[in-house]
Amino acid sequence: MCGIFGYVNFLVDKSRGEIIDNLIEGLQRLEYRGYDSAGLAVDGKLIKDGDEEIMNNIIIKTPGKVKVLKQKIIDDEINRTDIFDNHAGIAHTRWATHGQPKEENCHPHRSDSTKGEFIVVHNGIITNFAALRKYLLTKGHIFESETDTECIAKLFKHFYDLNLKAGVSPDLNELTKQVLHELEGSYGLLVKSYHYPGEVCGTRKGSPLLVGVKTDKKLKVDFVDVEFETNAAQQQQQQANGHSSLLQNNHSTSLDLGFIPVAPGEQNLRTSQSRAFLSEDDLPMPVEFFLSSDPASVIQHTKKVLFLEDDDIAHIYDGELHIHRASTKSAGESTVRPIQTLEMELNEIMKGPYKHFMQKEIFEQPDSTFNTMRGRIDFENCIVTLGGLKAFLPTIRRCRRIIMIACGTSYHSCLATRSIFEELTEIPVSVELASDFLDRKSPVFRDDTCVFVSQSGETADSILALQYCLERGALTVGIVNSVGSSMSRQTHCGVHINAGPEIGVASTKAYTSQYIALVMFALSLSNDSISKKKRHEEIIKGLQKIPEQIKKVLNLETKIKKLCNDDLNDQKSLLLLGRGYQFATALEGALKIKEISYMHSEGVLAGELKHGVLALVDDKLPIIAFATRDSLFPKTMSAIEQVTARDGRPIVICNEGDAIISNDKVHTTLEVPQTVDCLQGLLNVIPVQLISYWLAVNRGIDVDFPRNLAKSVTVE
Ligand code: UD1
Ligand code: M6R
Repeated sequence: MCGIFGYVNFLVDKSRGEIIDNLIEGLQRLEYRGYDSAGLAVDGKLIKDGDEEIMNNIIIKTPGKVKVLKQKIIDDEINRTDIFDNHAGIAHTRWATHGQPKEENCHPHRSDSTKGEFIVVHNGIITNFAALRKYLLTKGHIFESETDTECIAKLFKHFYDLNLKAGVSPDLNELTKQVLHELEGSYGLLVKSYHYPGEVCGTRKGSPLLVGVKTDKKLKVDFVDVEFETNAAQQQQQQANGHSSLLQNNHSTSLDLGFIPVAPGEQNLRTSQSRAFLSEDDLPMPVEFFLSSDPASVIQHTKKVLFLEDDDIAHIYDGELHIHRASTKSAGESTVRPIQTLEMELNEIMKGPYKHFMQKEIFEQPDSTFNTMRGRIDFENCIVTLGGLKAFLPTIRRCRRIIMIACGTSYHSCLATRSIFEELTEIPVSVELASDFLDRKSPVFRDDTCVFVSQSGETADSILALQYCLERGALTVGIVNSVGSSMSRQTHCGVHINAGPEIGVASTKAYTSQYIALVMFALSLSNDSISKKKRHEEIIKGLQKIPEQIKKVLNLETKIKKLCNDDLNDQKSLLLLGRGYQFATALEGALKIKEISYMHSEGVLAGELKHGVLALVDDKLPIIAFATRDSLFPKTMSAIEQVTARDGRPIVICNEGDAIISNDKVHTTLEVPQTVDCLQGLLNVIPVQLISYWLAVNRGIDVDFPRNLAKSVTVE
């Protein structure tokens, strides 16, 4: 998925080479998200432009990986030695949405090909870009790409010129507000311009953006004040809104009728509110800023970060960070943005001794599942306490129904736990794919509890569904891995699954941690029920053993590697059969296999076999069947009989030493320890994660970056 990185140094001397290296390194930390092109923009040399001296700029961009960009910078013989004591550089990794991954479509995009006055990088999608483009074409702007982003750069120049014509020299953040007024859709974006040397504005709406701050000295305060629009400026803006957006005009005039220049009082209005960045003697201090769509690219520089809210404009200049809003303060709106200290360690996001992040994350599961429970379960007294939900439990207990909403693997974790939710809470539970839920405009009421499950907390479909539920007054609960993500912040309450950063595109450890977090949620909701006490104890004792049991299952790797090598490698298709709790495991296994190894695979409800799928079964089609012991075991066995009677030779995932299964009709068995029925999926999923991993490795696939997929799907 697209990634943004920006770097600003102030009173810290940096050569152009060092600045480029910083930007490249930032992009490399974003590579795990999946992308197809990369690019950056830095300052060039001072040149004469009529009477003016301006800093020209260098934009380098290319389809392909960051290493291709790095090589291009070398090939282009970019001067590395010029020193800057104040500089703003911006960079981007692109995942194509509008226009093919080719050079002209890569970011950064510029306002004009002659001087490149404004340069922009952007994540998200501008939904009204076609109309904006049409309008800007009538104003003489020449487009160089097929992207939606380019119209943003053009709009900056358009408004800058209009302001100048009106005799006003606007401040960069005021100009940004004028541009944002025209944009519909989602964005995280950075803009730099030679009219504003050493400055950058960053803003977001529905796409994450944060600012890391690095200083030698301690910051005076650990927050930044929010600078709201003054009443006068607001009135003027409203007046402007009354006239236009630009697109509401009929565009027939050469001077925009609807355009209202920045209020004279607002031009270059530089407040002294950025208290955090002054030294003891109230003078500016040396400082570096790192703007990014992902903390993973900031963490090696600084742990001090500020997460922007939607519609915030972060304006960095003269070593200060100012947060602006395009509106006056409304009641209850926060007047500060905290500068937080990130707990994440860099080594947490590195591969360690593993060949791929996916493999590392599969093997981390004894730890990650333990971390999900750490401090939340008192195993001795069988009590579960989820700090983030405690105050909301009485409301949730009274709700009419629980709707779980998610995508992909996160959706499967909901399916895997729905039954235990229903059993323990006796509240009706439905499980929804976010996109389908929205497509259907499913009815949601104030007395519903909507549970959003997401690893990234940034998945566009899930966020849109969340907004839909918020608008309808439902209580929203997040089960999210990424602290500070949009979903974690926008839900009323929730649980961080604490699995640690997941980098491989295939979700593995997030699944087992989501599963456990959801089981703990169900346990918390029913902890006052006497009739459920025994079941509670059984599940909690079961949870305690899970990390150790996962370790045991991971020992199957050698057997699985051989199985993949000898028997599965050349196959074209694979079925996974499960029922009851194991239906979700079958679906999750099938998703893992297809997304990583590109082999067609399908999760089938074992009870449905005879209603059609059985026609596929012969002595060649590989089948994996989940036949661990639970109340549905006899029925699962009957499905296996149906398969073997048609010469199928299934690979059976069963409990250790289960003699009923080990017969010559099955291809092989993968034995896993037994646990409580509702937790068995936590152990059964591990062999299929390993199968998908080794199938992909054998096929030479770039496991962490499978084709056409991105880690965090921030587009609908
Ligand atoms: C919190 C702290 C943890 C600390 C513990 C000590 C954070 C992120 N967690 O953990 O470092 O050790 O207290 O008591 O500071 N939330 C949402 N939506 C979500 C996820 C969470 O609104 O999707 C909210 C929760 O309701 C809660 C807060 O975020 O208010 C933190 O959630 P969580 O980390 O799960 O809480 P604790 O486990 O109590
Ligand atoms: O970040 P999320 O959990 O919201 O992501 C949801 C899906 O995009 C994700 O689980 C996807 O299906 C994974 N690639 C599966 O491995």
